[in-house]
Amino acid sequence: MKHSSAIQLLLAAVAAPVRAAFSWKNVNIGGGGGFVPSVVFHPTTKGVAYARTDIGGLYRLNPDDSWTAVTDSITTDERWGHWGIDALALDPQNPDKVFAATGMYTTDWDPNPGAIIRSSDRGATWQSVDLPFKVGGNMPGRGMGERLAVDPKNSSIIYFGARSGNGLWKSTNGGVTFSKVSSFTNVGTYIPDPSDVGGYNGDKIGLTFVTFDSTSSLLNGATSRIFVGTADNTTASVYVSTDAGATWTAVAGQPAKYFPHKCRLQPAEKALYLTYSDGAGPYDGTSGGVYRYDLTTSTWKDITPVSGGDLFYGFGGLGVDMQKPGTLVVASLNSWWPDAQIFRSTDSGNTWSPIWEWAGYPDQNWYYGLYSDNAPWINAGFISQDTKRLGWMIEALEIDPLDSDHWLYGTGLTLFGGRDLTKWDTTRNVTISSMAVGIEEMAVLGLASAPGGSELLAAVGDNNGFTFKSSSDLGTSPQKPWMNPMWTSATDVDYAGNKPQNVVRVGNSAGSPQIALSTDGGDTWNVHPGADSTKNSGTLAYSAEGDTILWSSGNAGVLRSANQGTFTAVAALPSGAAIAADKKNNTVFYAGSGNTFYRSTNTGTSFSAVSSALPTGVTAVRDIIAHPLVAGEIYVSTNAGIFRSTNYGSTFSSVGSLANTEKISLGKGEGSSWVLYAFGRGANGAKLYATANNGATWVDIQGDSQGFGAISANRVVGSSNVAGQVYVGTNGRGVFCAKGVVSGGGSSSSTSSSAVASSTTTKASSTTAGTTLSTSVVKSSTSSTTVKPSSTSKAASSTTTSAAASATPTVYAKRWGQCAGNGYTGPKVCEAPWVCTFVNDWYSQCL
Ligand SMILES: *[C@@H]1O[C@H](CO)[C@@H](O)[C@H](O)[C@H]1NC(C)=O
Ligand SMILES: *[C@@H]1O[C@H](CO)[C@@H](O)[C@H](O)[C@H]1NC(C)=O
Ligand SMILES: *[C@@H]1O[C@H](CO)[C@@H](O)[C@H](O)[C@H]1NC(C)=O
Ligand SMILES: *[C@@H]1O[C@H](CO)[C@@H](O)[C@H](O)[C@H]1NC(C)=O
Repeated sequence: MKHSSAIQLLLAAVAAPVRAAFSWKNVNIGGGGGFVPSVVFHPTTKGVAYARTDIGGLYRLNPDDSWTAVTDSITTDERWGHWGIDALALDPQNPDKVFAATGMYTTDWDPNPGAIIRSSDRGATWQSVDLPFKVGGNMPGRGMGERLAVDPKNSSIIYFGARSGNGLWKSTNGGVTFSKVSSFTNVGTYIPDPSDVGGYNGDKIGLTFVTFDSTSSLLNGATSRIFVGTADNTTASVYVSTDAGATWTAVAGQPAKYFPHKCRLQPAEKALYLTYSDGAGPYDGTSGGVYRYDLTTSTWKDITPVSGGDLFYGFGGLGVDMQKPGTLVVASLNSWWPDAQIFRSTDSGNTWSPIWEWAGYPDQNWYYGLYSDNAPWINAGFISQDTKRLGWMIEALEIDPLDSDHWLYGTGLTLFGGRDLTKWDTTRNVTISSMAVGIEEMAVLGLASAPGGSELLAAVGDNNGFTFKSSSDLGTSPQKPWMNPMWTSATDVDYAGNKPQNVVRVGNSAGSPQIALSTDGGDTWNVHPGADSTKNSGTLAYSAEGDTILWSSGNAGVLRSANQGTFTAVAALPSGAAIAADKKNNTVFYAGSGNTFYRSTNTGTSFSAVSSALPTGVTAVRDIIAHPLVAGEIYVSTNAGIFRSTNYGSTFSSVGSLANTEKISLGKGEGSSWVLYAFGRGANGAKLYATANNGATWVDIQGDSQGFGAISANRVVGSSNVAGQVYVGTNGRGVFCAKGVVSGGGSSSSTSSSAVASSTTTKASSTTAGTTLSTSVVKSSTSSTTVKPSSTSKAASSTTTSAAASATPTVYAKRWGQCAGNGYTGPKVCEAPWVCTFVNDWYSQCL
């Protein structure tokens, strides 16, 4: 009996998946780096607040103004959509409860259902219920809301206003289950682009907010008066129930034009304040308004701060001072030039004062000081470089309900705020700072760690990239992004194996050369003289001596440049091929595509397919890496797992049992050993694993408390300098770092199991190099179904007035730049992916 149970225990121990205690922490890029659509404060408990993001989950405010991510534990490979937060609600009667509507897209290509997640311990642990439809946390209209609200008098009652025509949903058991409110039938008619069926702009925005009137009477223990907004600009968009949700009618006298973005109750005034824009946001809008609805008299008042030609934007952010009835702030939703505008009123919107004014064009009076000390790169790369200082996409604008001086607002780039807001009414000068410490929202597109060179090079979406010279820098927000040149996004970075100070990066903008070189480890840069204005994005492989660059571009096939010469097509390699340089032997490059492995032994001048290098069953080469210190040692990640070669890819053997792998990397291990890291499908599911013994043991180093989202969208790189240190680049939660020991012996001993015989045949070179870049802004990122448009990217918008070019232009207007307008004579076509967007008759801008 005893004996047999001991055997069972032993068997269980052997079968149990192997875990190692790695503890994950963000590398401090700082400053957020993406869109923060909303901030919600608890109405009665001081200091309780959350910020929601569109691709990076939910964050909780700490007493020192920093933020803690609270949704990482539930963001598995399968449920990556939990990082897309479309709505957020707190329970006015219980400061420990928090609710969110999660899901990334309602498009055909996002398979996941939406969910309502709930926590009773401020986000430490979560329960979740799936909805019978999708939720679009990174979709148009995501700055509206909140669409989710808890009855202020009854914690059991929660309403959720859905997208896609799915209407209004209600829980009567504290969010455990939801059912449809069938009496609510006006579900929002507006679709940004009806021709985009199943796509990013082709869905109904649906419901935009749920606002309880806490001043109304109770009916059977429930708040009786509830307001719900819809994205409908033709009939009505604000509906009310006065019988606790049983019946609904359109509120009489409402604007009936534009879309309501925010609706806030000021109970002491018995009034609702609403902001409107003629677009769903967060990028669009050329008109709008601000309204006050008096609950006592049931009358509407237009309190829009500007009119006529000054009204060339809509309104989003709306902060109501609960301590000072009559005091509120509203923000322009996208005044793209010269800057956003924020208005403050202390008399219920009768009069307003702006946060900046013209002081004789082009001078401005700024009634604020603006600082980004805790994320210096924001000032270096953005504030000091652009007329837009205050930001753009301001849908979040909140005054702490218990502190009139404390305010926060979210932009497309960061979260700003301050602690002296009432000075606006006295000295009329407030101090604004980036207050996004702990918010790490970058979409990471490429990572590298150079042995003896820079510890971490991170290519990111929207903010270009960052260099961390040594491990001791990882906790400090960088002084600057990659600049001179600075592009919208960097899609990859690589170093030269024998000259690790030599670094190359690639950008994703059209209209200017997009390859830059550094000889100081990624500190300063020069544009590659052989790059032209037509090629961009993709991945890079830098030869060991740094004289040759192989570039698997995003829009012009695979290219090669030697000695800083012109990039020319490598005809033998298919467009989109995975590429790598041997890190020690300057003449050798590797590539893979489909089931084929390729090799060049003449610095990429020509490539040969190494036939039968990879076994039957391989249909997709996903990644190729070379050992940082050993010539000829390479690893190929495929749908059929990882294969290793120690003879320049002549023969390969399987690296253990990890199946269907994605990105892989070698990192320094104990002593002289190296550890192989891989995202793949193993014993513990689709996660990050590591092996120190060539796959004899694969250790789950991700653990159970850290989600990285979809593994197919992630990057991984092992440190080339610090034993056991490894970095994960996520699509919306920045870069994570952990350090630990992966046991199981060194990886540099050669294995001979299941070596595959191979022979080389030279592939006839074809002349059809180059493919066209996908025109879908939304899906044209780095991987198939899981990559989302990063948060500050401008999705193609239906309000675009793209100047149709009769011939291919030679000069493009840059992102944020002017591209049309009366009297304008400059370039009229924007760099991809930006589109020329009408602002007013005198100004259109690349957004
Ligand atoms: C709160 O609402 C629920 C659901 O409608 C109801 O069953 C309950 O009685 C209400 N609570 C109180 C205290 O009235
Ligand atoms: C509704 O809004 C859209 C987008 O701004 C606009 O194209 C349309 O003309 C509007 N419809 C009405 C009736 O105002
Ligand atoms: C407000 O203060 C900032 C920071 O001191 C200063 O730069 C700015 O000029 C001041 N604004 C005005 C109008 O005096
Ligand atoms: C580098 O690779 C080339 C081409 O395969 C080979 O001829 C040469 O011997 C290699 N050099 C070293 C030092 O291994």
